Amino acid sequence: MYHFEQDIECVLADEKTLGEICDRLAAQITRDYENSEHDLVLVTVLKGSVFFATDLMRRIPFKCEIDFMKVSSYGANTETSGFIQVHLDLKRDVKNTDVIIIEDIIDSGRTLQKLGQLLQGRGAHSVRCCTLLDKPERRQVDLNADYVGMEIPDQFVVGYGLDYAEKYRNLPYVGVLKPSVMKNNLFATVQRNGGIT
Ligand code: IMP
Ligand code: MG
Repeated sequence: MYHFEQDIECVLADEKTLGEICDRLAAQITRDYENSEHDLVLVTVLKGSVFFATDLMRRIPFKCEIDFMKVSSYGANTETSGFIQVHLDLKRDVKNTDVIIIEDIIDSGRTLQKLGQLLQGRGAHSVRCCTLLDKPERRQVDLNADYVGMEIPDQFVVGYGLDYAEKYRNLPYVGVLKPSVMKNNLFATVQRNGGIT
């Protein structure tokens, strides 16, 4: 069997670190929302954020809900149009709820910016974002997450839900993919430019 761990250059966050990140962020969210009179909905952006969202949610000790969206945003050409394509939408109406968008990683920031605007437009009482990883060097819009697990350098990472061409999500840690694996692969370029997430 091909062991896909040989495609990983180095580990950025091991299982222990990921657990500690979830502990810390869940404690912050609990402190901020436990006395809110609005329902809390964790809007999880498919597919990459699923592992993180479920680990985070089971550490929140009060009633909250999870729902899912699959979206994509597009590159520089459509940046000004505020366009976001919704491939799978929420089942729940978020009107008057406290929404936390759960992201795996913020890169350019476009996806999050447009999704935030979309949910605010649906009448959410509040919209914040919690991201596992943040690549501040790559930011192209003026936007920061409210809860950040870890800042990382401008490298392509996989594992713990994050993929490269749909693979590597099941690595239990977050690691840097060897550049040689991505060489000459068009999908990587699409993905880096905020294609389908
Ligand atoms: P944005 O550029 O902030 O809109 O990010 C778009 C999406 O690109 C993220 O939600 C991820 O799904 C994906 N992405 C960005 N950087 C990486 C990475 O290093 N590994 C895997 N996916 C990534
Ligand atoms: Mg994503």
